[in-house]
Amino acid sequence: MQTITITQPDDLHLHVRDGQALQSVVPDTAKQFARAIIMPNLAEPITSVAQASNYRDQILSASQGTGFTPLMTLYLTDKTDAAIIKEVSESQFIHALKLYPAGATTNSDKGVTDLKNITPALEAMQSLGIPLLVHGEVTDPSIDIFDREQVFIDSVLTPLIKQFPHLKVVLEHITTQQAVDFVSQASENIVATITAHHLLMNRNDIFTGGIRPHHYCLPVLKRETHRQALVTAATSGSAKFFLGTDSAPHPQDAKESACGCAGIYTALHAMELYTEAFDNANALDKLEGFASFYGANFYGLERNTKTITMKKEKWQVPESIALGDKTVIPLRANEFCEWRLV
Ligand code: NCD
Ligand code: ZN
Repeated sequence: MQTITITQPDDLHLHVRDGQALQSVVPDTAKQFARAIIMPNLAEPITSVAQASNYRDQILSASQGTGFTPLMTLYLTDKTDAAIIKEVSESQFIHALKLYPAGATTNSDKGVTDLKNITPALEAMQSLGIPLLVHGEVTDPSIDIFDREQVFIDSVLTPLIKQFPHLKVVLEHITTQQAVDFVSQASENIVATITAHHLLMNRNDIFTGGIRPHHYCLPVLKRETHRQALVTAATSGSAKFFLGTDSAPHPQDAKESACGCAGIYTALHAMELYTEAFDNANALDKLEGFASFYGANFYGLERNTKTITMKKEKWQVPESIALGDKTVIPLRANEFCEWRLV
């Protein structure tokens, strides 16, 4: 029997929703991860320190007894100013601000319409060392959906980091060779998160035998060469690439619909999925850095002290799990995982 024990990991990109759904999903994350960067894209986005504080209390109450720490973020809007950034820097629990180009993804309508509107906020973030988290896709509907990340890098991110060379930036859930190359070649304040599903699947998985709504997320899965580039980056031992699940639960009926929502639920078995991806690449020795060290380093957090153990043992993923009074279909529902959290 094969086992692997690593320092308890952190999830540096997570959606937990709110209300009853939050109560359902937070325990899945808390049983594996010590901490998680909590995305602020609720239907009513988290734009103030007071809202983040209330949201944090909800998450803490859902994770009681586990020692789980939510690391809060604020949602940037056209109205976010330098005064809000100063408040963030004085708070103990807000670790970053998230840039959603307006219209790019779930609950991004109130996002930023033009980066010029947040120049003072970005200046303040740069000088205070507060990270900018980026959903890196352009929203122009005339751009092919498979090219939106690359076009964003060329037309938005490259000029942005020229204007703010010392700003700490996380390019979230990268999906392409171009993003890997961009981050690798950029200065050390530019890093990226990588999801388990982008390490394990390519765009064929959206269409295997028919359309697969539970494999639809944003940025959308790309072709196999891109998946391979992500695996190479994640298993390279470079501290620029670290774990962020982007677990994004939507109710089953919102996914299995004529216009289904984007988002894949992986919080249930995230570490099992990542371990499988690293095992497939014969790189289990690189898992701990990626999952437990590099993200904490970037955010200036202490290293976790507990450990988790995974063993190689096949198990069947449940066909659905509760999401408040609805259900969510986890990735690999009814199918098998190769590794199990002990
Ligand atoms: C996320 C969600 O549902 O909140 N969906 C997704 O497909 N990843 C939003 C996001 O991170 O784009
Ligand atoms: Zn996300």
